[in-house]
Amino acid sequence: MKALVLVGGIGSRLRPITHTSAKQLIPVANRSVLAYVLDSLKEVGITEVGIVVGTTAAEIQAAVGDGAQFGLDVTYIMQDVPRGLADAVLISRDFLGDDDFVMYLGDNYVVDGIVDFVADFRRDSPAAQVMLAQVADPRAFGVAELDADGRVTALVEKPQDPRSDLAVVGVYIFGPQVHEAVAHIVPSWRNELEITDAMQWLIDHGSAVGATVIDRYWKDAGNVTDMLEMNRHLLETLERRVDGEVDEASELVGRVVVEAGAKITGSRIVGPVVIGPDTVVQDSYIGPFTSVEGNCRVAHSELQYSIVMRGASIEGVARVENSLIGRDSEVNAAPRTSTAHCLVLGDHSRVQVAG
Ligand code: TTP
Repeated sequence: MKALVLVGGIGSRLRPITHTSAKQLIPVANRSVLAYVLDSLKEVGITEVGIVVGTTAAEIQAAVGDGAQFGLDVTYIMQDVPRGLADAVLISRDFLGDDDFVMYLGDNYVVDGIVDFVADFRRDSPAAQVMLAQVADPRAFGVAELDADGRVTALVEKPQDPRSDLAVVGVYIFGPQVHEAVAHIVPSWRNELEITDAMQWLIDHGSAVGATVIDRYWKDAGNVTDMLEMNRHLLETLERRVDGEVDEASELVGRVVVEAGAKITGSRIVGPVVIGPDTVVQDSYIGPFTSVEGNCRVAHSELQYSIVMRGASIEGVARVENSLIGRDSEVNAAPRTSTAHCLVLGDHSRVQVAG
């Protein structure tokens, strides 16, 4: 069995971060979403992995390389334009050959991996297997309908009037029959080759599509709220570890990780929190569910429920929360007392200030 990991796409909902970097590399508890995906493929014994890349190809290649650091053998497949998930299968034909493969969206996270999912596929050998989860509002998802035996009878993309509450999670397994399906479907109204249409094609042509319904946590890291929620979830599993320096005037409460080279002085940190290598935290408060990557500086500030990416600095700011702060960003107090906000923002930035 091989795997296809999809990291093309535009990531419009995570702009401006995605103007300059791939959303799959945004750190969650200080590791990229993509790293968790690659770990879960390795866990089920897959080693041959194709990564479908788009405009962020160089950055993904710099982070993953040949895959050896994950115990994988990675091949890169270029998708010049994000023409849809089924298009990613189409352009990967040579890499996939006639092998079964897991298709994993590189911005999805499924707690405890995909061991049971792969076992279900191997037991039943359907043409395709989808992972499903119950959701409160299925209208925002691909939705599956099942028969009495748990086989998929219909798949509808973002239905107005959903006939089930089972949403498609971004992990699939296909047998070689899928290649005929992706070759036959046509682009949807949003001009993408939809993987749900390919699976519907399989069903309509008499092939079995199986379903694994999970009741554990999963998340598609589409927007900032999702990223912060995923970060919260992963930080919940943290074990306290202090490898950096913490002075006498500082207090660490609960599950706090301080990586080697980090320096905490005169500060209070209430976990779960992770402080990356060589980051300085000085005379500050850092509250629960916060990840600060390496080489950051937080001074005379309060920060909580946030992701701060490497090289960023926050200085003299009363309170930052619910925030995603990109690499090498600076958040500072205005030099004079003033009610004016002085902003230098990239395209598509979003800022909420106290009114
Ligand atoms: P999406 O989140 O559906 O799309 P996107 O990444 O472009 O984001 P947005 O909707 O905010 O603009 O994509 C899911 C995953 O699949 C993501 O990891 C990107 C990847 N993908 C491809 O590799 N090729 C494609 O043609 C598409 C549509 C997505």
